[in-house]
Amino acid sequence: MLSARRSYRMFVAVAPLLVLGACDGGAGTDDAGPSSERDAFVAPGTDAFVAPGTDAYVTPGTDAPTTGGVTYYGNLRPVLAQHCASCHVEGGVAPFALTSYEQATSWGSRLVEVTRDRIMPPYLADNSGSCQTYRDARWLSDAELATFADWVAQGMQEGDPTTPEPMIVPPPVLTGAVSTLDIGVDYTPDSGRSDDYRCFIVDSPGGYVTGYDVHPGNRSIVHHVIVYEPTSDAEGDRARSLDAAEAGPGYTCFGSATVDAFPVVLWAPGGGATTFPRGTGVEIPTTRPLIVQIHYNVLGGTGSDRTRVDVQTDARAIPAYIVPIIHSGFAIPPRTESYSSTHSQSLSALGSISPRVYGAFPHMHTLGTSLSVSLVSGATEQCVIDVPRWDFNWQLAYWYETPFRVSSTDEMRITCEWSSMGRDTTTTWGEGTEDEMCLSFFYVSL
Ligand code: HEC
Repeated sequence: MLSARRSYRMFVAVAPLLVLGACDGGAGTDDAGPSSERDAFVAPGTDAFVAPGTDAYVTPGTDAPTTGGVTYYGNLRPVLAQHCASCHVEGGVAPFALTSYEQATSWGSRLVEVTRDRIMPPYLADNSGSCQTYRDARWLSDAELATFADWVAQGMQEGDPTTPEPMIVPPPVLTGAVSTLDIGVDYTPDSGRSDDYRCFIVDSPGGYVTGYDVHPGNRSIVHHVIVYEPTSDAEGDRARSLDAAEAGPGYTCFGSATVDAFPVVLWAPGGGATTFPRGTGVEIPTTRPLIVQIHYNVLGGTGSDRTRVDVQTDARAIPAYIVPIIHSGFAIPPRTESYSSTHSQSLSALGSISPRVYGAFPHMHTLGTSLSVSLVSGATEQCVIDVPRWDFNWQLAYWYETPFRVSSTDEMRITCEWSSMGRDTTTTWGEGTEDEMCLSFFYVSL
């Protein structure tokens, strides 16, 4: 994503900018996390469709086995509707729907496994509380997990088909001034491979981005969307030349924008709008373009796409920066089931400021199996993000429920683990499909 050297320079460059931010009236904000609009929707009535926990169907005071039990219509359908149907719907990005009794029974015990192992819904960071918790986490509760397990264990009963359709929490929407980034063409992904990563260049509306929402043109093929901002005008020009050098709209880009850039928008289906933590925003100067990277997956559909990205912009905001902690000095030996490597980075460049960290965006390529970052302050080490099962296909943003401060005397320690069983050569840092990465971006502001 970034060369280590350049990124370190960028990190150092950020420190004085944060100081400037302080003069901008940024100090004194409270510890609020990202103010997703979702809170507004989680209101009375929500309980009506959250699947009941086991208590709901175990008759109090008896040890008798549950009668009536867990049924599709009574218990499972509401969980599927809330947590799965944004993708597993006819025409959705998942390769099959989970919106009928027949579809659910055909997957049966696999539903229990993918939920228990937290493969589905896709959410890679551990949100159990052993290493941070996140806002709007797509994280099934123990009661919801039990609903899957009990439904299968009790023989996948149908229940009453006349049960009213479950109501679902509507995804949050943007409320401020919105500019639309339009890729400008109907793009048909390369159907010769199941995954096509394409980067489109769009003009920056200027100002500060304070939130975003993505409207895929073709929901069956848009797997996820990342909008990158080049780190300099020169890197923006490099992106334009890559675009010009390749036939067709945009250019091919695998795990990154190919030029030095940081992610401003990270979106996967079903999430709705994201609003940055209260009052903060990322400046997007008009002198450099933005790069819209779309991951097309043609397993679930075909055809062309014209995706729109709505960015909520403000002329002024408390400046936020997206800074990476990078480990680039690794060499993964070939045919190794598990190779892990750790790197510590001092935060001394922060000088006298102690900014807050609001969010994390971890990143590796396809050999990656796990990633974790900790914050070392003197003798204490605090887990900052833990991804126990990395999946390159789901690059997501994780917003802290409780943002934390960092200071110049701290150190960030990043550990990555890879599996190189299929490789015959040593793998090192790089942009290509055969290269690897080990980094996490952090959303930082005063
Ligand atoms: C953000 C979109 C999204 C959401 C939400 C989602 N899925 Fe999926 N699911 C996918 C996609 C895409 C695939 C195809 C494999 C892949 O790309 O990971 C998939 C694959 C699956 C599979 C087959 C994979 C396997 O290993 O057997 C199952 C089963 C599944 N999902 C169940 C669920 C359940 C149950 C939920 C809700 C608790 C859910 N999914 C939520 C997108 C989603």
